[in-house]
Amino acid sequence: MSIKIAPSILAADFANLQRDIEMVNQSDADWFHIDIMDGVFVPNISFGMPVLEAISKHAKKTIDVHLMIVDPDRYIKTFADLGSNILTVHYEACTHLHRTLQAIKAEGMKAGVALNPHTSVTLLEDTIKDIDLVCLMSVNPGFGGQSFIENTYKKVKQLKEIINRNGASTIIEIDGGVTDKNAKQLVDAGADVLVAGSFVFRSENPLKTIATLNSQVNS
Ligand code: DX5
Ligand code: ZN
Repeated sequence: MSIKIAPSILAADFANLQRDIEMVNQSDADWFHIDIMDGVFVPNISFGMPVLEAISKHAKKTIDVHLMIVDPDRYIKTFADLGSNILTVHYEACTHLHRTLQAIKAEGMKAGVALNPHTSVTLLEDTIKDIDLVCLMSVNPGFGGQSFIENTYKKVKQLKEIINRNGASTIIEIDGGVTDKNAKQLVDAGADVLVAGSFVFRSENPLKTIATLNSQVNS
């Protein structure tokens, strides 16, 4: 399977959102990564349903929604109706994770679990076969543009071992501080999807940045 690039729309220019969505449509990127923050689970508020609805209208690629919210069960159906293809909830926000994963799948979406930097991958040992995607946070969630936490490489390798040992088909996504400096090493450690926000949207030529990142990890 080729390595997927998922530009994070949090770093887009919200006053030119359609332009930035079309850029991703035209690019070598595979997914749209959409960050929903509630100001409670994380110390920031991003955007909500009307903005996601507007994004969905123009996005021609997989919509990967990362919920940084408490009690995500309340909104599973809403996010399905808004066009989400993958719905990722935080391990730390779910009291009944197994039930949440089944509810996401029942709405026809792929089910993802995100882990904060301090949360051990070993906690997924008993649910891994039910998880389509694990999102390893390589920064503390809440803001774009932070520096990559180096301990992530170790977590990717440990998680890959758990996936293989259990015969699971879970894919590994890395979110936070991804650049051309760590992309290859992350993929070598076992990553399948790289989220990139500021590295893409703050660059001079986002289309070219995506193309370069893509060829760096898929050669
Ligand atoms: C952080 C978000 C990330 C963020 C990544 O809480 O989950 O998806 O947008 O942005 P960069 O790539 O700038 O770290
Ligand atoms: Zn994210």
